[in-house]
Amino acid sequence: MRDRCKDDTLTARLILGKEVSEGIYADLRDRIATLRDKGVIPGLAVILVGDDPASQVYVNMKDRKCNELGLRSFSVRLPESTTQEELLKRINDLNADPTVNGILVQLPLPKHIDDHAVIDAISPLKDVDCFHPFNLGKMLIGESVFLPATPAGIQQLIYRSGIETVGKHVVIVGRSNIVGKPLASIMMQKGDGLDATVTVVNSRTEDIKSITLMADILIVSVGKPGTVTADMVKPGAVVIDVGTNRVADPTSEKGSRLVGDVDFDNVKEVASAITPVPGGTGPMTICMLMANTVKAAEIALGKLERGVN
Ligand code: GUN
Repeated sequence: MRDRCKDDTLTARLILGKEVSEGIYADLRDRIATLRDKGVIPGLAVILVGDDPASQVYVNMKDRKCNELGLRSFSVRLPESTTQEELLKRINDLNADPTVNGILVQLPLPKHIDDHAVIDAISPLKDVDCFHPFNLGKMLIGESVFLPATPAGIQQLIYRSGIETVGKHVVIVGRSNIVGKPLASIMMQKGDGLDATVTVVNSRTEDIKSITLMADILIVSVGKPGTVTADMVKPGAVVIDVGTNRVADPTSEKGSRLVGDVDFDNVKEVASAITPVPGGTGPMTICMLMANTVKAAEIALGKLERGVN
């Protein structure tokens, strides 16, 4: 897995989400064509409340990918002043619309809106983010139709890169509801590309370094640059960086650049494989979202064909 450089230092293999996602997209394109032959175009509604610049970038990327794949994209942009009731009404309308297979409400929401109430309002059958408590409960027992996009993308990235997980120690830094918690529950399930021994550490964990040094696969998702340094990584470990942080960079045209949570330049000299930021896990998240939307459309069509409500 490790390549020897000209100067004889060891440098990690790069794991690129764009490359790995190609195989998944090839399969999705076939499934989308099959649906199209039956008169179905999967539809994804993406709701953005407010004008957070990072959220706008993510939502535009999701929109573009839908168009590229020939999915129907319903872009719902609402002002920051939108009330919770107004948002719940929009979600109810989309729940009832048979041309909409997936509904995603971009987080974070403005402070006056309760995230949980909004997520609870999305039909579990259209919950392509897999944020609804019903789907999260199903996921915990290994029975969910959908898996949350970022954790599922990370699992696929590791699996499709030929990295063994069975019996390996996966250490996750960060316990968020979107990444850390669901990822732990996925990686400990039974099966190929799974079956890992999982430890999740958080900001209150004592002596984090002693735990990260035990990781065969170290996954970092805290949203803070420089969280994992080279001295915290076991030589030969695989490092997956989920962080996306914008930092000032006067040398770049924009005056800023994206970095992950891992000190990439130094950690790549210790790890056997590592994801860059950008280009690592990000493309996998969008890919899994598209896969969930196609799956939702297939399930809806199956029910229609069987005459089930
Ligand atoms: N904000 C950050 N990540 C996500 C995500 O995966 N889904 C949604 N809906 N919002 C997010």
